[in-house]
Amino acid sequence: NHSESSPKVLEGNDLQSLAKYMKSDSCRNICLMLGAGVSTSAGIPDFRSPGTGLYSNLARLNLPCPEAVFEMDFFRSNPVPFYTLAKEIYPSRYRPTLTHSFIKVLHSHGLLHTCFTQNIDTLERRAGVPEEKIIEAHGSFATQKCIDCKDPYDDAKIEKAILNSEIPRCERCKGLVKPNIVFFGEALPKRFYQSALSLELEGDADLLIVMGTSLTVNPFASMADRVKGCPRVLINLNEVGNFHRQDDIVLLGKCDDIVRRLCRELGWEEELDREWEAT
Ligand code: APR
Repeated sequence: NHSESSPKVLEGNDLQSLAKYMKSDSCRNICLMLGAGVSTSAGIPDFRSPGTGLYSNLARLNLPCPEAVFEMDFFRSNPVPFYTLAKEIYPSRYRPTLTHSFIKVLHSHGLLHTCFTQNIDTLERRAGVPEEKIIEAHGSFATQKCIDCKDPYDDAKIEKAILNSEIPRCERCKGLVKPNIVFFGEALPKRFYQSALSLELEGDADLLIVMGTSLTVNPFASMADRVKGCPRVLINLNEVGNFHRQDDIVLLGKCDDIVRRLCRELGWEEELDREWEAT
């Protein structure tokens, strides 16, 4: 009988079928959507894991609500909580994870189309993924500017200030300096909207892999459901989003463990270890 749905490109909804598809000619362009869960094994807490997540640990900074740490009005009134957090999660103190090295391996095999990340830790580029393949949808610590006169601020000076628990101020107008992280209510970088839209319209992705995110913050999260016509994989400790399509694969567990098993299946495990050793 005629099957209503699109021809199944996967033989099964398991890791082995995923590996087989990734090695096939039909899989040339892989898109990734990353969240804080891919950096927890580096020592950077995520936001919402009960107990360990940043939002349950920011209470000691006596914030009106945890998200206030990323709100502009609160930051203007009191930049100390943000800079306290910034010191704790400052990228230069951390090393990429095995999952970040997996992204570099995908690129080495010419399979990486775009790595969309919500993370501000810059560990994707630190793992050797080319910047032009990375979309830091919520900005990152990579650059910073004055929130009043918008003057860019020196990279080395802000790193020194943050690690010395000082609040950096603009040398021109004495305004507060803030890393170019997207605060709640701010627009996401133009590149995000352009790339997300072209992904949706052109349907360039042959595979979407979503890793380490609760898919709770939009507009980033909604991209997972706007990608159509290709298999989607969720790699996460717990089930999130709506991965109930015929070609969806849900692999629950730690992303580093799942990535290692997948690379073993692909014959890329030595390469994965070599890439991670090099970080
Ligand atoms: N392996 C797999 N999944 C993990 C791991 C791990 N080692 N560690 C944590 N996770 C999962 C958690 O179970 C959770 O589902 O990753 C997810 C992390 O979710 P959040 O803490 O909500 O982080 P994220 O989705 O990135 O948050 C989105 O919220 O505050 C904003 O701008 C901030 O970018 C952030 C956005």
